[in-house]
Amino acid sequence: MQTNPPPTNLKPFFLAMDDIFEEYEGKLDWSEFFGNDHPVEIDVGCGRGLFVVTAAEIHPERNFLGIEIDFREGRRGAARLKRRDLTNAKVLGGDANVPFTKMIEPHSVSAIHVYFPDPWWKRKHRSRRVFNDVFVGLCSNLLMPGGLLHSWTDVEEYYGVISSLMDHHEDFEALPTPEERDPEHDMDYQTSYERKKRKLGLPIHRGQWKRKPF
Ligand SMILES: C[S@@+](CC[C@H](N)C(=O)[O-])C[C@H]1O[C@@H](n2cnc3c(N)ncnc32)[C@H](O)[C@@H]1O
Repeated sequence: MQTNPPPTNLKPFFLAMDDIFEEYEGKLDWSEFFGNDHPVEIDVGCGRGLFVVTAAEIHPERNFLGIEIDFREGRRGAARLKRRDLTNAKVLGGDANVPFTKMIEPHSVSAIHVYFPDPWWKRKHRSRRVFNDVFVGLCSNLLMPGGLLHSWTDVEEYYGVISSLMDHHEDFEALPTPEERDPEHDMDYQTSYERKKRKLGLPIHRGQWKRKPF
């Protein structure tokens, strides 16, 4: 997406967890963080940010937070936000489990996106997967009633785990599978991984679920 290295200071488009502790007392108070009361959507493992950048451009009436444990990738996405002055989006560098567990007000998020989470193929590494039963519980706690959880992957076995966890959770209702769209140009994919996998001819599994009312 970007060939030149991003500039060093990307604040406030890129923030590390330490910045949240220093500048926001360890809490993501959305109206303070984004400077408005618009709905907030989170992209877990946003990579180099294609989804966050595109969605922020299309929806100025919503706020987007990408969370990315790989700072180099996250900073690439933030550099694109900065160049386009997309003030309704930011990237947070760090493990999504930290803000999900202790920084975000319950039921304050309108959508959570998890696209192409790392599959951790080796069985002994499976516990590193971001999408597990604990994560689903955290999503249930953060989403507002009617809020959406979207997850796509090309890994059939992992999608089986994700859809089983979601379909069997009492707080979520499965929605119809989003249809595949033909891209109009080379950046017209949901994420960089969707582009990469579709170009390899791999089928993509797409799921969306709605947080039920309390
Ligand atoms: C396979 S890539 C997909 C990136 C992007 N979602 C896409 O579809 O192009 C998975 C990403 O999740 C990030 N990641 C893995 N575990 C994470 C965690 N616990 N918190 C935040 N990011 C994480 C990885 O660093 C990587 O960038």
